[in-house]
Amino acid sequence: MMKTAVVIGVGPERGLGAQLCKRFAGNGLHVIVAGRTQSAIDVVAKEIASSGGKATAVVTDATNERHIVALFDRAGAELELAIYNAGNNTPGRIVDMDATYFEQSWRVVCFGGFLFGREAVKRMLPAKNGTLLFTGASASLRGRAGYGAFNSSKAALRTLAQAMAKEYAADGIHVGHVVVDGAIAGDKIFQRFPDAASREDSLVSIEGIVDAFEFLYRQPQRAWSFELDVRTSKERW
Ligand SMILES: NC(=O)c1ccc[n+]([C@@H]2O[C@H](COP(=O)([O-])OP(=O)(O)OC[C@H]3O[C@@H](n4cnc5c(N)ncnc54)[C@H](OP(=O)(O)O)[C@@H]3O)[C@@H](O)[C@H]2O)c1
Repeated sequence: MMKTAVVIGVGPERGLGAQLCKRFAGNGLHVIVAGRTQSAIDVVAKEIASSGGKATAVVTDATNERHIVALFDRAGAELELAIYNAGNNTPGRIVDMDATYFEQSWRVVCFGGFLFGREAVKRMLPAKNGTLLFTGASASLRGRAGYGAFNSSKAALRTLAQAMAKEYAADGIHVGHVVVDGAIAGDKIFQRFPDAASREDSLVSIEGIVDAFEFLYRQPQRAWSFELDVRTSKERW
């Protein structure tokens, strides 16, 4: 049976989620491509299929417990890799912020990571094997004015991942976290900032980020890392 990978938080083709799917499909995994937008995930699954890989697109809201359980039912007992990549930035000053905005940010960035991580580990425990990876950001490590909602939930996601790494290491499950320290050279940034293409050397390379995920995935059980951080040489940190 083909091993499976689940990647949630897949959007545009030129985006981190989509490129993670492509890389791991290229490594011979059947990738379950999960995201909110049917048309976007269909494009990714079709491209994988047309290059000889196997992929299944499943519309999934990361904050919906029922969706997440069903998603992992699709992945089955062959689950080998699970990646939590959902988590759009949610800027805003605290004094202006609605409680629902803050709560929704936390639901997508942190609570969804708990639902996803719990279901992934449950399916990996019987075989005592599997890798669970989370996408972090600069926000995972420090608070910044104007980003309190996003910073607090990304930091919480990181410590959740760290707790899970310690809780399940003895069961053979590798939990890791990739800190993307800077804006990513993908559609999310190019669409929001039309001038971004002219400063691409200060945007983090998607291929380089995907390399970090693959490195963690390939680590032998006697040399596991919890975390890798990636940034451009221009980044001041
Ligand atoms: N973009 C950056 O510059 C940057 C920098 C550092 C770290 N990161 C992190 O990198 C990861 C990828 O972000 P990205 O912005 O570059 O986008 P991406 O990987 O191209 O796509 C992520 C996708 O996640 C989806 N998503 C959001 N909420 C979801 C939910 N509740 N359920 C299912 N899917 C959901 C979004 O769908 P919709 O299209 O429907 O919103 C989005 O298209 C995130 O964890 C982010 O925090 C991004």
